[in-house]
Amino acid sequence: MSNKPKVFITRKWPASVEEKLKSQYEVTLNESDRPLSADEFKQALQNYDAVCPTVCDSFPAEVLKVENKRCKLLANFGVGYNHINMATAKEEKLLVTNTPGVLTESTADIAMTLLLMSARRGAEGDRLVRAKQWQGWCPTHMMSSDVTGTTLGLIGFGRIAQAMARKAHYGFGMKIIYFKPSPAEQSVIDDLNATACDSIAELMQQADYISLHCPGGGSTRHLINSQMLALMKPTAHLINTARGDVVDTEALIECLKNKQIAGAGLDVYEGEPNVADGLLTLDNVSLLPHLGSATIATRTAMGEKVLDNLEAYFADQELPDQVS
Ligand code: DGY
Repeated sequence: MSNKPKVFITRKWPASVEEKLKSQYEVTLNESDRPLSADEFKQALQNYDAVCPTVCDSFPAEVLKVENKRCKLLANFGVGYNHINMATAKEEKLLVTNTPGVLTESTADIAMTLLLMSARRGAEGDRLVRAKQWQGWCPTHMMSSDVTGTTLGLIGFGRIAQAMARKAHYGFGMKIIYFKPSPAEQSVIDDLNATACDSIAELMQQADYISLHCPGGGSTRHLINSQMLALMKPTAHLINTARGDVVDTEALIECLKNKQIAGAGLDVYEGEPNVADGLLTLDNVSLLPHLGSATIATRTAMGEKVLDNLEAYFADQELPDQVS
């Protein structure tokens, strides 16, 4: 019997990080990468010192309240933690950590990818070529919208939004406007020549491209609803790399169907991995499968962040990325 701490990993992680876990802990990996059930999470909480879930694993109150828990730490692989009921985690005296900072650029890259795909009809063009439907170049074929020199509106202005703003401002000469409940740092505003909007409604009316960067969860659920969508310019595009439930999907489908806005680019969905049928048949929406942080380097760095939090916890040190 080993006296190493017992650690449970819910999904497959990059190989180099799994090797480190094996050398440091009595670890249970999920080599088949099968999504686990609520009962399996409950058993993990009862039998392991630390459980390492990720953004697709749901930890509602019912799971967290399981009796006879051995686990005291949920070391999340991911920056977002809206899949964990944080109020219950607190009540149950479970510490929660996340992986901030290391996925900023890769997620901002995907937001920019979706912005360009939506503006220039990239996914639609790809489908056309593959379907052998392309009739050749002509002056009015698949005309789309410019990106350079237009206005990008960011809802939420944290690390990822600021990274996207830098790419858009310095790479594409975009004017940056943003909405954030608390004031942004002056040096960031100066660097990006960014303008704060007093309300989300004001931003929705002014921007050519709107990119969502607020956390998911109860307080932001359906923040972008039919009323907000109705404020957008008919030529504007909506980009979501934050969380699916920030947008009312049915309202967005209606809005895209009626060509009330020019397009949308989505990396995240309500009820992932299910994607609403109404989105699948529309040409004016570009769809990616939650790829924001999916580069080898970023996913490895996220795993290393979890390792740092585990190491600190088992050494009785302050947790680098404690969120509760
Ligand atoms: C996160 O870490 O919250 C991201 O959504 C994963 O890409």
